[in-house]
Amino acid sequence: MPSIRATDSSVVEDILVVGFARDKKSKKFSIASGDLKVDKTPLLEALDDLGATGAADEVIKLPGNATKLVVLTGLGEAQSGGNYPHEILRRAAGAAARSLAGHNSATFALPHSSVAEFAAIAEGALLGAYAFDEFRGSSKADRKSPLGKVSIFTKNSKKSEFTKALTRSQVIAKYTHIVRDLINTPPSHLTPDSFCQRFKKLSSGTKVKVEILNDSQLRKLGYGGIIGVGQGSANPPRLLHLSYTPASTKGAKKLKRYAFVGKGITFDTGGLALKPAQGMEAMKSDMSGAAAVSAAILAIAELGLPIAIDAWAPLAENMVSDTATRPSDIITIYGGKTVEVLNPDAEGRLVLADAMMRAAEIGKKAGGLDGLIDVATLTGAQVVALGTRTSAVMTNNVDFSESFLKLAERTGEQFWPMPLPEELRASLDSPVADIANIGDRMGGMLVAGLFLKEFVAPELPWLHLDIAGPAYNDGKPHGYTPVGGTGVALRTLVALAESSASQ
Ligand code: BES
Ligand code: MN
Ligand code: ZN
Repeated sequence: MPSIRATDSSVVEDILVVGFARDKKSKKFSIASGDLKVDKTPLLEALDDLGATGAADEVIKLPGNATKLVVLTGLGEAQSGGNYPHEILRRAAGAAARSLAGHNSATFALPHSSVAEFAAIAEGALLGAYAFDEFRGSSKADRKSPLGKVSIFTKNSKKSEFTKALTRSQVIAKYTHIVRDLINTPPSHLTPDSFCQRFKKLSSGTKVKVEILNDSQLRKLGYGGIIGVGQGSANPPRLLHLSYTPASTKGAKKLKRYAFVGKGITFDTGGLALKPAQGMEAMKSDMSGAAAVSAAILAIAELGLPIAIDAWAPLAENMVSDTATRPSDIITIYGGKTVEVLNPDAEGRLVLADAMMRAAEIGKKAGGLDGLIDVATLTGAQVVALGTRTSAVMTNNVDFSESFLKLAERTGEQFWPMPLPEELRASLDSPVADIANIGDRMGGMLVAGLFLKEFVAPELPWLHLDIAGPAYNDGKPHGYTPVGGTGVALRTLVALAESSASQ
């Protein structure tokens, strides 16, 4: 990850990044360089000559005068007063940083009138400076490494709120990069056990405690979902539990406590309901939820937030073999509910059910949970309904989801509320067990949500985040989002911890 600092000294011999926008009516360009004064005339002339549009994700590089290079990054439509939404700034900084791979350093002079806007610029720049080249051998030498040093130009460079915002953006970017790395790592190199070992290492020396249940413990303790999904694989399943309790907050009000549960299928072949070969490679991303919740708790701990968090990652590899779960098999979820597995490709809900039951049990023992959030690449239906960039939120508590959605607006992660229609529940009825693992195909995202709802007490505020589309970008890079793992959900989970810790 690049280093980052705030600066208010004049920019010479560096690469300079500034924003540009176009007025909707007059079609005239404007240069938005925040607190830095720049000679705009030659830049505006060049933009006209080049036929620029100013659209988001447009990045134009010009040779500079005092600076090495001027990089113009599109802010879209010009905003009166020069106030741009956080996410526009985050994306513009990210697109510029992405285009500067191979360069050592750059100064970002972008408009901001608050510490939150400044933070969005910092975050975007750091998130855009990402590459995954771990597995390149002979082609490694041809790859440009990500931008090395980021300076953000601001007249407030010495104010403590601004330097604090930089520290926070570094934590967010560091853990987002870890989530992306894990998603991009293929199942040959990321198994349920190696996933646990990585987090064991990452947690050492932090306030996060690690507990790992292996397959024989899981079997003995009654985790039929995780065992059933993992039993077809030579790489046995695991349940990873990370817990964070802050340093004593003397005399303070009672600590809030949340549990995060993330789907951790290190590879989803579909099991005996084998997926078609085309596109199956993307199923290395089926552990995105587990990576997001596990990295989020580390970020929360590193920020020292006064809130208690448990993160749970049920991990399994969904494979085809003579030991794999067969359609019609009946498994028993932790706590005793039985499930008829009609489709072994609907495996995420099975491992989640186990972990959610356990998360609530442990939460109760610790004095009660304020909320339970599961994060999962759960259904193809999510992608059909909302596309590849918007995740779904389902809930048993509208106040909880509304506050989450408000936070997501601030973090720039796109989420949209989805219902859990009671009438779809009957489609999950099984003739032989308590419930079946599939129901109506229509509304498949909601049916999956209704299945999970069966494993949450109605009085426990619960959010189900289906991130199937947004977790993995198999299209082109955009803004601060690279190809491959995106790291989605981490930012809003951290924001939720910050916001409820301060309430
Ligand atoms: N991991 C998949 C869902 C998925 C699909 C994630 C596409 C990301 C992109 C999940 O385990 C799955 O296979 N779901 C099935 C459920 C069905 C059998 C009810 C699906 O969506 O087809
Ligand atoms: Mn599946
Ligand atoms: Zn899956």
